[in-house]
Amino acid sequence: MAAPVVASVLEAAAPLLAELHAESFPPADRWSVQAIGLLVALPGHFALLATAAGEPLGFALGRVAAEEAEVLTLAVRPAARRVGTGRALMRALMAESARRGARTLFLEVAEGNLAARTLYDRLGAAVAGRRRRYYPNGSDALVLSLPLSPSGAATGG
Ligand SMILES: CC(C)(COP(=O)(O)OP(=O)(O)OC[C@H]1O[C@@H](n2cnc3c(N)ncnc32)[C@H](O)[C@@H]1OP(=O)(O)O)[C@@H](O)C(=O)NCCC(=O)NCCS
Repeated sequence: MAAPVVASVLEAAAPLLAELHAESFPPADRWSVQAIGLLVALPGHFALLATAAGEPLGFALGRVAAEEAEVLTLAVRPAARRVGTGRALMRALMAESARRGARTLFLEVAEGNLAARTLYDRLGAAVAGRRRRYYPNGSDALVLSLPLSPSGAATGG
């Protein structure tokens, strides 16, 4: 598979992003086209789409407020996983967050989500807190923080 290319997209991409989201999350956690479109259009929010040879592979939504950034969601198509797309999306999100002035990136991850936790761990994320019974299935969320350097690269890990 060709290396993923990551680019910014606007709210017009919401139907595609909602499809990608639905492939990666259980029904209770899925976000509608409307919800994604509204989020992408909010000030400080942005969407990044990963493609290979023009085919969509996954996306990430982020937001920046002052010096703090947050990953709102990250999803890679099941058939396209383990080839570096999630890492490429995260690196692009970190770079875009730093470009917008953020110094720290926060994210929430289900405690049992080994794939995402390993990805974030390798990027230098550290556990900053826990939200009990955060997800519809009752599982806890870990709050992770990741320091950003002005170039967008993680300073740790
Ligand atoms: C988490 C997710 C985005 C990872 O996407 P991906 O494109 O497969 O990730 P990458 O190929 O870039 O993997 C980067 C690194 O993360 C880790 N990783 C990814 N998937 C893993 C898995 N299933 N098990 C263990 N480690 C994993 C590995 O260290 C991997 O590097 P390696 O392949 O060189 O060993 C993807 O599994 C996904 O969409 N999951 C469902 C939605 C989700 O959980 N989103 C995150 C919500 S917080």
